[in-house]
Amino acid sequence: MSVVIVGNPKPRSRTRAAAELVATKLTGAPPTHVIDVVDLGAGLLGWGDPKVAEAKEIVTSADLLVVASPTYKATYTGLLKLFLDQFGAGELGQIPTFPLMLGGSLAHALAPELTLRPVLVEIGASVPVRSLYLLDSDYETSAELDAWLEIARRYVPGHH
Ligand SMILES: Cc1cc2nc3c(=O)[nH]c(=O)nc-3n(C[C@H](O)[C@H](O)[C@H](O)COP(=O)(O)O)c2cc1C
Repeated sequence: MSVVIVGNPKPRSRTRAAAELVATKLTGAPPTHVIDVVDLGAGLLGWGDPKVAEAKEIVTSADLLVVASPTYKATYTGLLKLFLDQFGAGELGQIPTFPLMLGGSLAHALAPELTLRPVLVEIGASVPVRSLYLLDSDYETSAELDAWLEIARRYVPGHH
């Protein structure tokens, strides 16, 4: 079961579309669940919210995660951090995880590798390949994406 997490204050965003595309191309099937973190609303500002708990359960039962954010001020969004902060250290139990960020320019192409990866690893994600950064203007046709997929597919559970 593959799960996409999208941390964009704007719902149904390009970032979400890109993450769904990446998950589909990685596994050969659309993601089983997409968590648009903005839908969780104010429950993210405290602990023990039932909708947040339900979303966490979906995440921890995944076989593969794509975790996506737009680039805001050279890093991933505060909204995504609110959700990731809900997980304990190591809680993901080494689920294969693929970080993805979209940006307006290539100025922050290292942002997913330098800012998002460490947080994911802290909560127990296994991040087997370089984090992916795509331009918002050409994520659908990116040659970068094809090259990345060729490597990343080797780390999809069940791949042989
Ligand atoms: C508050 C804000 C800050 C942004 N900061 C950056 C940035 O530092 N670097 C960058 O490349 N793009 C930046 N952008 C552009 C967004 O990353 C880009 O438009 C986004 O990836 C588009 O995805 P979306 O359509 O899914 O929101 C910023 C956009 C906003 C709204």
